[in-house]
Amino acid sequence: MTKRWRAERRRDHYYTKAKREHYRSRASYKLKQIDYRFDLVRPGNIVVDLGASPGGWSQVAAELVGPEGKVIAVDLDRMVPIEGVTFLRGDIREEAVVRRLLEMTPDGADVVISDMSPNISGNYAYDHARSIELCEHALRFAASVLREGGNFLCKMFYGDMSGRFSAQVREKFDEMHMHHPKASRETSSELYVIGIGFRDRRT
Ligand SMILES: C[S@@+](CC[C@H](N)C(=O)[O-])C[C@H]1O[C@@H](n2cnc3c(N)ncnc32)[C@H](O)[C@@H]1O
Repeated sequence: MTKRWRAERRRDHYYTKAKREHYRSRASYKLKQIDYRFDLVRPGNIVVDLGASPGGWSQVAAELVGPEGKVIAVDLDRMVPIEGVTFLRGDIREEAVVRRLLEMTPDGADVVISDMSPNISGNYAYDHARSIELCEHALRFAASVLREGGNFLCKMFYGDMSGRFSAQVREKFDEMHMHHPKASRETSSELYVIGIGFRDRRT
């Protein structure tokens, strides 16, 4: 952490807002803005949050689903507990972790959200490919857990494989959108892919 980076972070509007409003990360505002625009999460929903730590999205998801809903969060890293959120530590690329999540959601889920990021190497093509790999795991998991009509949200680092991934989402959902929320840094290459209305071909 350089001095300059710390100073920039202090100046960051969403960072200070998150501190003030007791959210664990500025990312909370990305989910709030995306949900406001696309109406992804409703009261009473079951939400699975992939790549949840430190928990900014899980906090917002727990607020949106309310006391009748349920949030299940998973991450490679630890996460300090959040009321109303069940946490599983693990790697979504592992079969055993997917199986455990499916056991935790015997009635399926209404929404799958993924803010998973690979460790940034600095090689853009490589980071893009790792991001797409995580997106594909998130989509595969979503297709195995979502109920008919369910919603999907996934962070992607934009690049030459983005079109192929968005086409996969379009195929499984009634609507597909790509969105860059205001709370994402202007310079960020991250983009959010949104699937509305899961078409469950298993039924
Ligand atoms: C940008 S952070 C998520 C921030 C979070 N949405 C929030 O609002 O606080 C990305 C997270 O993805 C997690 N992650 C990356 N690869 C993963 C994987 N294969 N399985 C589970 N979590 C993963 C990382 O450990 C990291 O905590």
